[in-house]
Amino acid sequence: MKNPCIVCNWKMNPASQKEAAALAREITRAAKSKKGEVIIAPPAIYLSTVKNEHTHVALQDVSEYAKGAHTGSISASMAKNMGASYVIVGHSERRREQHETNEQIAQKIERAYEAKLTPIICVGELKKETPERAWGKIKKQLDEIIPSLKKGKGVIAYEPVWAIGGDKKTDSAYAQAMMYRIKLYIRMQAQLITPILYGGSVNCKNIEDFLEYKDSIDGFLVGSASAQKKEITTLIKKIYGSY
Ligand code: 13P
Repeated sequence: MKNPCIVCNWKMNPASQKEAAALAREITRAAKSKKGEVIIAPPAIYLSTVKNEHTHVALQDVSEYAKGAHTGSISASMAKNMGASYVIVGHSERRREQHETNEQIAQKIERAYEAKLTPIICVGELKKETPERAWGKIKKQLDEIIPSLKKGKGVIAYEPVWAIGGDKKTDSAYAQAMMYRIKLYIRMQAQLITPILYGGSVNCKNIEDFLEYKDSIDGFLVGSASAQKKEITTLIKKIYGSY
């Protein structure tokens, strides 16, 4: 992974294959200086469409199983065969809506490594609370995945869940302090230097706040802003311009 890394998590957007191709084309154009790395994570149904337009693609989720009877699931090796090089694992929306556990997330990390995919592993506290209490929640998530994380090279995305969705103010200094703590903890527990991304309502309006801390942020996991053509192309230029 090359810094700064910008992961475009399109979530359940856009509405059609044609729009997915057009959006991917615009993102590729905005990222053409290759100063960093832009990864597009489309809904799985658009993976090959996006792959035709853009080099670095990710799946938004992957099965914890390598194969078998699991209707609706996609294995890590299938994603690899379709041209993906990354997979998002443990996103807060999946933890909440699909009740994914840290144990399942650890399995997904291992399946990703086996298929030679790089997992982008999301961690973060649910509510805005004191740094000490928030750290307790994040540490528990890390402790349960570190034995799997250690088996390869993953990327961590810190997503304070309360800041996802756009209407809450994110405190960039708080986020930076938490990311520093996460990085240090993984270094001590797993002897790994893991790249760390920030995700949580990153957009053109607030990006300058985060860029103040660019020395300790390896990139960004962008949600809804990444599915809007003007917003994401401007964001890429701003981020590339500052590193
Ligand atoms: P938003 O950028 O829409 O807040 O989403 C963040 C996120 O979930 C990225 O994966």
